[in-house]
Amino acid sequence: MILNKKFDLGFLPTPLHHLKNLSEKYSPYHIFIKRDDQTGLASGGNKTRKLEYLIQEALDNGCDTIITAGAQQSNHCRQTAAACAIANLKCHLLLGGTVPQKYNGNLLLSHLLGAQIHFTGENRKGENIDSLKQKLELEEKKPFVIPYGGSNLTGALGFVNAVKELKAQLIAQNLKIDYLFFASSSGGTQAGLILGNDLYNLNMKLIPVGIDKSEAQGMSLEEVVFNMLNEGKHLLEIKKEYCLADVKINHDYNEAGYGVITENEKAAIKELAKSEGILLDPVYTSRAFYAMMDYLKKEKIPLNATVLFWHTGGFPANFYYADKLM
Ligand SMILES: Cc1ncc(COP(=O)(O)O)c(C=O)c1O
Repeated sequence: MILNKKFDLGFLPTPLHHLKNLSEKYSPYHIFIKRDDQTGLASGGNKTRKLEYLIQEALDNGCDTIITAGAQQSNHCRQTAAACAIANLKCHLLLGGTVPQKYNGNLLLSHLLGAQIHFTGENRKGENIDSLKQKLELEEKKPFVIPYGGSNLTGALGFVNAVKELKAQLIAQNLKIDYLFFASSSGGTQAGLILGNDLYNLNMKLIPVGIDKSEAQGMSLEEVVFNMLNEGKHLLEIKKEYCLADVKINHDYNEAGYGVITENEKAAIKELAKSEGILLDPVYTSRAFYAMMDYLKKEKIPLNATVLFWHTGGFPANFYYADKLM
C-alpha cells in the first residue's frame, strides 16, 4: 500500500492519552490528546509525518538538495533541516524577513541543523523558490522543492497514516472520538486527517482552527485543502464526493493575524501547562487549544462528548516569543 513507502524519521506511534485534570475541570466532557509534539526529529511536531513521505519522494527522484520556505520561526523549516541531516541532503531554507540581530527559537535550531538560510523579506510562503531552484540547477545540483508547510498530497499522506495509527490506538483503548480539534495553516495536516477519517471510517467530526488569515498559494485555505482531497481520494480509492462547502475551517480565532500572540494564546499555554504539564507553542497549538476550551466552556458541542486535541508541536518558538508570554 502506498502508505508503507516512506523514509522513517519519526518516533511513532505517538502517545494518545487522557487529560485527567482538564477533563475534571470541563466535566462532563472527556478530553484526550494525541502527542505529535513527541514525534522526534529535532524536538517533534506534525511535520515529521509529512517529511517521511516528502523525503522519500526526493530520494526516489535522485535529488541531492531540498528547498523549502516559511517564516523565521517556522517549525516546518526546522524539521526539514533535521530530516535533511538524517538523509544526507543539502537543505536551503527561504525565510521571510531580514537577517535578525540574534538567532533564537526555531531559527537558531535550523542554523544548528546545518541549513543554508536565505532571508526573503516580505516573502515567507515560498515566492522565491523558483529562482533559487534555477540557480542551483545551473550549479548542477538536483534540487527538490518541498512546498510551503510541506502541504501537498505527498505530505498529507503523513496524516492519512497518522489516522491509521490513531485507529489502532482507539481499538486498543476501547475509545471513540466524537470531535477532533487541531491547528490548520497550510492545509496538509487537515487534508490528511479528512482523508484518513474517511478511509478508516472513524466518523470523527473535525474542527480545524485557522491560524493564518492570509491566503496560501493565491487561494483560500479551504481551496488548498479541497484540491488535496480531490487528488487524494483517487490515489487512496476513497469513494466519496468532496465539495468545497464541506471543507470547514473555523476562522473565529485568527483575527489577530499569523504569529501575533494575544491573551488567548497565552491563556491556553498556561492552562495546559499548569493542569497537565504539557507545553503548547505560541503560534499554532495555543490558538487551536484556546478554541477548543472556548467550545467546551460555551457548550458549543454536545455534553459528554469525547474530544481529542491533536498536539502538532512547535515548542521551540516559545523562546522567541518569551517577552509576550510573561
Ligand atoms: C506547530 C504547528 N502546528 C500546526 C501547523 C499547521 O499544519 P499545516 O501547515 O499542515 O496546516 C503547523 C504548520 O506549520 C505547525 O508548525
